[in-house]
Amino acid sequence: MTNDNTFTENRNPLRLNRPVVLVGLMGAGKSTIGRRLAAEIGTRFVDSDNEIAEAAECSIPDIFEIYGEAIFRDLEKRVIIRLLGDGPMVIATGGGAFMNPDIRAEISKKGISIWLRANVEVLVERVSRRNNRPLLANGDKHAILTRLMQERDPVYGRADLVVDNNLGEHDKVVGSIVELLKQRQEI
Ligand code: S3P
Repeated sequence: MTNDNTFTENRNPLRLNRPVVLVGLMGAGKSTIGRRLAAEIGTRFVDSDNEIAEAAECSIPDIFEIYGEAIFRDLEKRVIIRLLGDGPMVIATGGGAFMNPDIRAEISKKGISIWLRANVEVLVERVSRRNNRPLLANGDKHAILTRLMQERDPVYGRADLVVDNNLGEHDKVVGSIVELLKQRQEI
């Protein structure tokens, strides 16, 4: 057995180097996986929508209804850019965040992005559990999510890593992300 690591080098093998940013559609599981991933690595977890709601003292559906989507997108950009300057953590972004070129540029400068991908049936099943998504409030969820997939998947595909998160796979997904991050020497 070789023993050439100094004590300090090997003390904290799961130290994350920079923010890990989860992107992908509503219902992809960004918050669930993000929370578990952060616990596994031993780092902080932040959900950008929660941060926006806290900063605005207003729920996401109310921000959309009272101020409109453009104001929400502006808040989203400011919050995510601020979080990216706060050091290593796991960030779950709202599904539209990665569509913004400024947010994307900042993520690629400061962090590592992971597209959490799921098939449309899985997305519909997950988003149907709660009625808190303004973009899905007025219409057929399957049709809206299918359209959003067509628009957004090519952009989500620019993320550094892609990981599938279909039903019942949470532990496996967290394990694969940890492995990928180790391979890339992010932890
Ligand atoms: C949105 C996704 C939501 C939230 C807002 C808009 C989108 O977040 O940011 O309702 O444009 O896809 P989740 O992806 O966490 O549901």
